[in-house]
Amino acid sequence: MPSSFPVKSARFLFAAILLTGITFQLLRLKFRMFDSIPVRTNFNAEEIVRAERLFYGLAYPAERSVNCVKCHNTRQSDTLNWNPDALEISRNYLNKSPDDLSGVLLRPKGKKMAEVHKGFQLTNEDVVLIKAFMTGLLTLD
Ligand code: HEC
Repeated sequence: MPSSFPVKSARFLFAAILLTGITFQLLRLKFRMFDSIPVRTNFNAEEIVRAERLFYGLAYPAERSVNCVKCHNTRQSDTLNWNPDALEISRNYLNKSPDDLSGVLLRPKGKKMAEVHKGFQLTNEDVVLIKAFMTGLLTLD
């Protein structure tokens, strides 16, 4: 029988890659390591106002602004609206990071998402504030 060395080392390599991948994911999820946008929890009054203005599309000149409320109601919808409402998106993103939110806003995956979240121009700071505003919506619920 030929040496089993190549098979063994291939298995070892595979296991090593798998473990590295799992470790990477755990560190990312648990400690938000490797995230490009730092997580923040404290905001001053000015930032809170800006956060709300960002969500309502009032923080930038009209052509650059995105009004999230146009598609995501801030109240449980009384009008017919099939888009997830603001409470729903906030709930779904409560335990996600600004990086995750940035992904869905600036690098949307999936056909529908890429259509509706198209051409958004937001800075990392904007995303952090929008995330904070979304969290605030939940406490008002
Ligand atoms: C043109 C309409 C439109 C605008 C404007 C819009 N969205 Fe959305 N958004 C949608 C739709 C529709 C979906 C659901 C897409 C799907 O089902 O794939 C969605 C999905 C999402 C999700 C994912 C929800 C989940 O449960 O996974 C988040 C978060 C989100 N939007 C946040 C925002 C924020 C924040 C803004 C403002 C910066 C915004 N959206 C602006 C239409 C819009």
